[in-house]
Amino acid sequence: MDPSYSPYDYAVHEDPYPLYARLRDEAPLYRNDELDFWALSRHEDVAKAFRDFATFSSSNGVSLEPSAWGPYAHRTMSFLALDPPKHTRMRALVSKGFTPRRVELMADGIRELTASYLDEALSGGESDWVTDFAGLLPMDVISQMIGVPKADRAEVRRLADIVVHREEGVFDVPPAGMEAALTLAGYYQDLVAEKRARPGDDLTSALLDVETDGDRLTDKEVIAFLFLMVVAGNETTTKLLANALYWGFRHPEQVRKPLDDPGRVDDWIEETLRYDTSSQMIGRTVAKDVELHGTTVKAGERMLLLVGSANRDPRVFDRAGEYDLDRDTSQLVSFGGGRHFCLGANLARLEARIALTELVRRVRGFEVDEAGARRVHSINVRGFASLPVRWEAR
Ligand code: HEM
Repeated sequence: MDPSYSPYDYAVHEDPYPLYARLRDEAPLYRNDELDFWALSRHEDVAKAFRDFATFSSSNGVSLEPSAWGPYAHRTMSFLALDPPKHTRMRALVSKGFTPRRVELMADGIRELTASYLDEALSGGESDWVTDFAGLLPMDVISQMIGVPKADRAEVRRLADIVVHREEGVFDVPPAGMEAALTLAGYYQDLVAEKRARPGDDLTSALLDVETDGDRLTDKEVIAFLFLMVVAGNETTTKLLANALYWGFRHPEQVRKPLDDPGRVDDWIEETLRYDTSSQMIGRTVAKDVELHGTTVKAGERMLLLVGSANRDPRVFDRAGEYDLDRDTSQLVSFGGGRHFCLGANLARLEARIALTELVRRVRGFEVDEAGARRVHSINVRGFASLPVRWEAR
């Protein structure tokens, strides 16, 4: 039988990797007629497509969800859903505010948040790593960065969670998600007005202030960007933190390395990003006819780039199916590539480094309750909704 791939399939959410292997070998250009998409699964093809924006356009957005797909996707997804030159302009302006220095300055705040959530999560000897830690930190870091006052952060996090939450079997933005998105957009609108009136030392104020050759971001553009940070930087980082714990637990000889030497935490993060990444696939629209593996794909067709599969391609990674903290992970495509390369990659890595380093300083080991773990059923995000863990304190 030919391999059959659907991102809606629960079996795929459980374990997509055997199917990815078949796609890479048997159908490197895969076609799903029913859902009307093509998919590329080999590392070489995915990495090339990320760089070739003239052929693989982001102009309809990058998510298959029906209400997120189409020419207006940029209204909520900002420059993630734009091609050059519009993308170039927005990204250049935003990058001026989102500098490596600004990210580095976040470290103290991240450490403080980490310490307070970790103390609480570890205090009883058992906790849910997602509910009590991984699901809290990333959104609060974003709020801190963009200047949301402390008193509002819990409510902003609650709204952001509803925006990305999907019940099992629901594969479009549900009404509650739409409503929360509107409320959050309204909140950001007020925040932008407030920062215009009284600028602070935060990213929102920096973005409002940025100017290149007389060009500035409008309030609407700043709000869409703040919204993009929630969609792009919140759930993905939560999933990374929980995937690290889960795969560490499943490979005790590997997780021993960072547990014994916090200097190995970066290797734990990178190998988790490669082995089982949060963003499993990214969509594109084919902008001009292109020949792939002997087939012409027509302009206007939808193409999925299977990032999760590319990261396991044995053509690039030796023993790709093994979780090994000693390997070279430099070719991973978890943060995309080319013009749209994840703007928050440094921040995500910094957060994960601080969180997992603080964790291994406090615990000598941990045990995941696999029977109690619950996966999210999402078409593009892979990870846990719940991960109960028993801690062995140092
Ligand atoms: C483990 C965590 C993360 C993963 C796996 C991830 C993954 C990605 C990927 C694959 C893309 C490329 C999308 C495309 O090519 O269409 C992307 C773009 C982006 N990410 Fe991340 N991301 C993470 C964390 C973050 C964080 C923490 C932020 C910011 C707070 C962030 C902000 C963005 C933005 C703004 C873009 C759009 C860049 C552009 O279109 O030019 N991401 N991310």
